[in-house]
Amino acid sequence: MSANQHSDGRVGNRIDGYTKFWETDPNQESQTNNENRLGSYTDVVNGYYDGATQVYEYAWGSSFHFSRFYKGEGFYQSLARHEHYLAAQMQLRPGMRVLDVGCGVGGPAREIATFADVNIVGVNNNEFQVQRARRYTKRAGLDKQVTFVKGDFMNLAEQFGENSFDAVYAIEATCHAPSWEGIYGEIQKVLKPGGVFGVYEWCMTDAWNPSIPSHKELAHLLEIGNGIPEMRLLSDARKAFVNVGFKIEHEEDLAERPDEVPWYYPLEGDLRKAQTPWDLVMVWRTSWSGKLVTHTGLRLLEMLGLVPKGTWEVCETLKIAGDALVKGGQTKLFTPMYLVICRKPLEE
Ligand SMILES: C[S@@+](CC[C@H](N)C(=O)[O-])C[C@H]1O[C@@H](n2cnc3c(N)ncnc32)[C@H](O)[C@@H]1O
Repeated sequence: MSANQHSDGRVGNRIDGYTKFWETDPNQESQTNNENRLGSYTDVVNGYYDGATQVYEYAWGSSFHFSRFYKGEGFYQSLARHEHYLAAQMQLRPGMRVLDVGCGVGGPAREIATFADVNIVGVNNNEFQVQRARRYTKRAGLDKQVTFVKGDFMNLAEQFGENSFDAVYAIEATCHAPSWEGIYGEIQKVLKPGGVFGVYEWCMTDAWNPSIPSHKELAHLLEIGNGIPEMRLLSDARKAFVNVGFKIEHEEDLAERPDEVPWYYPLEGDLRKAQTPWDLVMVWRTSWSGKLVTHTGLRLLEMLGLVPKGTWEVCETLKIAGDALVKGGQTKLFTPMYLVICRKPLEE
């Protein structure tokens, strides 16, 4: 273990070096910078999650994704319903062996395993998150049904072997890949012929035009605030599924549904919009006073050496993320829920 490696899996200089992957001014952003992030995607993404995971858990729970809301629906119910919806669209059946690509700390895997009665393997390249996922899953008594492995999802076939899963899903994770063809191609390989892949993808919608400076800046802020090497277009994701050999059975940008309560409302920090009394606490955490408390608290924890150096700076980028996500949602230039259900063809 290097001097920089903490026993919980976090790596100090990775966290500390995170923001250096971006120039602060998007207009000075160079091709070299972009290539550097894509080439170093492992350090970019791990630096981000080593720093941000505990704040994610504090603000969001153990499922690190967005969801649609019915009026009056509680925050955690809505997260679970989004997971159930994916499982239902994929038609998961009891006993299936399922891979969760980029599984976070395992919230969706535990929920979907229970909902659909399937066995899930979660893969995640972040050691800190893998350790936490295992701990929470054991505590929930699901450790026989849901297991976790540390690994880069760009090498799935090498890690698991070809044709080894009945189904694969990815929730808001494959946007971290250096290329969509690369990650979808790996998923295609590990699926059995006839197997299904379901994904909620993060992308810029086709209304996004990088030659417009404000659009370019929005993508840049989404990248730095969320540990994403490069934001890409929805139409490029669609092409990538087809290029690697998937047959698309269903696709829909769920952010286009006319929901009265938008998916980004929890980030607006507007207490009047809380859907249930308990959700007041959750919404407060993203209000200006809630953020002040979190960020001052983190600064203090870092000074006391209770979180690794650089954690505070990574978490400062979460403020950028929150504002950019709300703006991306309001302008519909961005979606975190492009749903695609596609199938690996049966062998001839
Ligand atoms: C926004 S989080 C979503 C986590 C989880 N799907 C959920 O909804 O709770 C993205 C996840 O992708 C993982 N990830 C990113 N790049 C990865 C890679 N190259 N290999 C494996 N996991 C990766 C991150 O570590 C993180 O756990």
